[in-house]
Amino acid sequence: PLPPICTTFEPYFLLSDEKLKDIVTHFKDEMLGGLGEYGKDVAMVPSFVTGVPDGTEEGTFLALDLGGTNLRVCEVRLFGHNKFEMKQQKYKVSDELKEGEARVLFDYIADSVDAFLTEIGSDISNNEPMHLGFTFSFPVEQTAIDAGKLLTWTKGFNARNAVGNDVVKLLQDAFDRKHIHVRCSAIVNDTVGTLLSRSYQSGPSLIGAIFGTGTNGAYIDKTRTIKKLGESKIKEAEAGGEHAGEFMVVNTEWGAFDNGRHCLPISIFDNKLDRESINPRKQAFEKMVSGMYIGEITRNIFLHLIDASVLFDGYSSKVLNTHYGYDASFVSGIEGAKSDEEVKKLIISQLGVESKLIEEDDIEIVKWGCRIVSDRACKLAACAIAAVVQHTGNDKVPEGEEDKGVEVGVDGSVAEFLPNFSERVSEGLASLLGKEGGKRIRMGLAKDGSGVGAALTALQAKKAMDRRS
Ligand code: BG6
Ligand code: GLC
Repeated sequence: PLPPICTTFEPYFLLSDEKLKDIVTHFKDEMLGGLGEYGKDVAMVPSFVTGVPDGTEEGTFLALDLGGTNLRVCEVRLFGHNKFEMKQQKYKVSDELKEGEARVLFDYIADSVDAFLTEIGSDISNNEPMHLGFTFSFPVEQTAIDAGKLLTWTKGFNARNAVGNDVVKLLQDAFDRKHIHVRCSAIVNDTVGTLLSRSYQSGPSLIGAIFGTGTNGAYIDKTRTIKKLGESKIKEAEAGGEHAGEFMVVNTEWGAFDNGRHCLPISIFDNKLDRESINPRKQAFEKMVSGMYIGEITRNIFLHLIDASVLFDGYSSKVLNTHYGYDASFVSGIEGAKSDEEVKKLIISQLGVESKLIEEDDIEIVKWGCRIVSDRACKLAACAIAAVVQHTGNDKVPEGEEDKGVEVGVDGSVAEFLPNFSERVSEGLASLLGKEGGKRIRMGLAKDGSGVGAALTALQAKKAMDRRS
């Protein structure tokens, strides 16, 4: 049995169906708030992407992807028939770059594109500027498909002189300073990219969601619903675009849900994590769900239990005493372990705890800690998806229509590596939408999707540009 101190914390993690429903209600309210007004936490950013691909799109584009585990430069060839091919190279972004001067960060990005073109090469003709779609996975208040100001950094980035500036301009200036013949023609959030990529590959999808270093979702809404755009912009968007612009992809930025702390189950471990983070009181939802934080919450739990002398005989380790000493891969490892022996090995190798300190009870506590934290993350992930499904009315089948279900494209390291992630989220969806309602939501991994999504957006931008000229 677990020590009684453990069970006192369980209410913050084992969420009842009523609690989940309450969270969804708040979620929908915040979504409506963000659609109605600028400056809200859940920013509900219009992407100016007014059509989703149908798989017939063709062309070759460069894509850049900043904001996940790696900086990636890709060349994406869209063949139509739902098929594509991608060459890509990953580059590391150091903490110095993340927290230094924005100009240095963007110079590094431009250099990486240059290195890619030199080392890997591109088939795109050199006679015209190469069109690049930029997946920039941070909150950007977009004003056009190729313009938008960074609202705030998230996920451990904090580069100076970027917030408030146009991200496309920051990148284009870096290309121009270095005489690199590339034109950044579209900026896209990774969730939007994932949604487009999933639609290109497997047919129309409603949501693109990331459960990775951070978490966020994009979905398709009626342009009219984005009231804050104002009547003239709405009309403009409706008139333009190949698909008549009746719909627009909205980047929710749901990671900032409940920053006001009205309904999320915030435990002392979450408070400690938030207080010690570089963005306190921001990204409240993300800090309970995403890969950057899942390991850290368990670390806070384990330290507390060590201090209470119920874990590892009251002894810690260097890793356990280090801020962000280990990441979500430890949690995934424990969740996927086939035996207690395997759990013990992971505690020794990844937490650096001495073998002689690990008793059977300690193994149980570690498994319990990882389970409650990841279960909560999956249930909250289900809340986000359910909120979007209900907001758009997709929880019901219109009378007389065939029920095609709801497609959700997901990407990110948590979705990919946390054992049984989609089954666990589906369970949460069943609690929220009923057994049958839950089954209608189909989640599919759209791995590395945002490269394809960026290329598709660059294509849309290029077509609009060609039409104008
Ligand atoms: C990648 C996408 O596959 O997943 C990125 O191409 C996205 O755009 C990333 O940001 C999210 O996952 P993680 O785990 O790398 O943050
Ligand atoms: C963070 C960013 C968001 C991104 C998400 C997933 O929440 O703010 O823009 O989509 O991480 O990468």
